[in-house]
Formats: sequence, structure tokens, C-alpha cells
Amino acid sequence: MMSSPHFVLLALLLALSSVSPASAHGCGLTYKDLHAAKLSSDQNQVPQTIYAASPSSSLPTAWDWRNMNATNFITPPSYQMLPSQCGSCWAFASTGALADRFKIALNNQHPDIVLSVQSLLDCGSDAGSCNGGNALAAYEYIHEDGGITDSTCLPYKGVDNSNWAEVDCVDRMCQSCDRFGTCSYTPQTDLQTLYKISEYGWVKGVYDMKAEIMNGPIACLMYAHSEDFESYTGGIITNDTKYDGITHVVVVTGWGVDSQTGMEYWRVKNSFGSEWGEMGFYRVEIGKDIYNMESNECAFAVPSEEIIESIKKRSRL
Ligand SMILES: *[C@@H]1O[C@H](CO)[C@@H](O)[C@H](O)[C@H]1NC(C)=O
Ligand SMILES: *[C@@H]1O[C@H](CO)[C@@H](O)[C@H](O)[C@H]1NC(C)=O
Repeated sequence: MMSSPHFVLLALLLALSSVSPASAHGCGLTYKDLHAAKLSSDQNQVPQTIYAASPSSSLPTAWDWRNMNATNFITPPSYQMLPSQCGSCWAFASTGALADRFKIALNNQHPDIVLSVQSLLDCGSDAGSCNGGNALAAYEYIHEDGGITDSTCLPYKGVDNSNWAEVDCVDRMCQSCDRFGTCSYTPQTDLQTLYKISEYGWVKGVYDMKAEIMNGPIACLMYAHSEDFESYTGGIITNDTKYDGITHVVVVTGWGVDSQTGMEYWRVKNSFGSEWGEMGFYRVEIGKDIYNMESNECAFAVPSEEIIESIKKRSRL
């Protein structure tokens, strides 16, 4: 693994300088909008990242985890609208980027891990709901609450039911069922594999996005309610019409250069199913802040070494 050139400082003395208006119809919210009430009394609570890398150091012309030395390190795109329409892009993007980082850390020697989006919808209500949320806040939840399960024991339902039981939420994020269909919840303390992270933070801007992507995919905020995005079928998006605000969260997997035109693009994993776009992905020109992707926070999380070792041991890698 490459060494990560960053240090995460939680609660650093820094506040985001601009506030984007939250969209009433979107599923992506900035960290600051999500925690507007909490942050209004203390502006210093937005987790922040400091980079050791200097902007003058050179970065590769292409770096895409979809094709890294002819190996794919990206887990499949999801569909947030099935089985139920839900503004859960923030949960799909945060778990999607983190699952890719597990795949990278396991050097593609283990089958894809599908992290439980539903456990975020059920238990991570501070990070979001079916009415939207934030990927950085999702990582904060995963970090503070000791990890999440994979989706085999808590599949996606597309509903948020954070307050339905008296049992602690962490103790109902994984079910086991017998062949007669009787199911029970496994307490968190009995779970063998909780996917944990050792650090998390955010970056923004082309240079810092690229520098962080060299460690693995990142979950970025964007505006997604333009007609051309909704009807996108493929190619590099170049229309830089400006839109106000944030409505969506997606996974940026890397960047590359188009061999025909020389145009530099981001490659991005969406959560609209694989019928959408370039089999669930899209590409967009770099450097024009299209859909506000380069001017808003992109969250990242680092898989815990301890869990990587435990997966290797349990799957006899
Ligand atoms: C890809 O190949 C290059 C050149 O052989 C090597 O330096 C690099 O570490 C490889 N990257 C990964 C992620 O394996
Ligand atoms: C860019 O998008 C805007 C808004 O949808 C549209 O009005 C305009 O025609 C597009 N420009 C090009 C060159 O396609």
C-alpha cells in the first residue's frame, strides 16, 4: 500500500467559508448544512484534513482504480431507488468508496465486500436519512460507533427506521435467520467482522482530490438535477452551466486523459443502477467545477489495519 500523506485532525479550528443552500429534493447535504444547528454555536467542529503533499509536487497524468495496471479495484455500482425510492446517495457513496478501499487494501485477493447501506439508514441518523445526508458524517458515525456490517446480514430496504425499537441500534444491524425463516439480531459484541475505519476526513479542489484518490476512491458532493445529467448515456460531460447548491453524492474512482481529444476527465461511480450512463459510471471534464464537484467536500475513510488482518485470517488469504 502507498503511504497516506495526510493527517486527520478532528475539530480543527476551521470552518467552511461558504454555505450552500440545502436542496429540498436532493439526497446530498454539505456537512455544515446537515449539522447547521449543532455548528451554529461552535463553528470549529467540521472535521478537517491537512496535507503534507505540496501543490508543486507532480501527480500522474492518469490514475484510475477502475483500471490500475489492468486490474479493477472498484466494487459494482448500486441502485438507490430499489426496492424503494430513497435519498440515500450519501450512504451508497460513503460505503461504496470504503468498499473499494477494502478491495485495494486486500489487493483484490478477496471477493467484493458490500457494506450495509441499511445499517447507516437504520442507525446513522446523525449522518442522514432517506431525505438526504452527508458522506463525511457517515464516516464519522462508522468511526465513532465501532464499524458497520456488510449487507449479507442487513440488506438494503430503502427506508429509514431509526427509532423503531428500544434495542440499541448497533445491536440490530445484523440478522441471522434459520431455515424456517425465524430471524434474530446479533448483538454488536458477538459480530466477527465489523468494518471499521482508522481515520477519515475530507478534501476539495482538483489537486487535493487527486492526491487523496491515490490512496483510494473518495465520496464527493455534487449538483445532479440538470436535465443533461439525468438523461446522460455516455461520454465526457463538458457542459459547465452553473447550478446552485448540492443534491447528490457520488464516488470518484480516478482520472484519465481521453486519447482522442487529450481532455482530462474524472471517472465517477453513481448509484442509479448499471443501466444508467456508462454502465453505472460517468466521466466529466476536470478543471471546470462541473456540477460543483471540485468546490465542495469529498470525504474519504481509511480501512482499519486490524480488520484487514482479520479478513485475511478468516478467509485464509
Ligand atoms: C502499477 O504498476 C507500477 C509500475 O509497475 C507500480 O509502480 C505500481 O505500484 C502499480 N500500482 C498498483 C496499485 O499496484
Ligand atoms: C448546456 O446545458 C444547458 C442547460 O441544460 C443548456 O441550456 C445548453 O444548451 C447546454 N449547452 C450545450 C453546448 O449543450
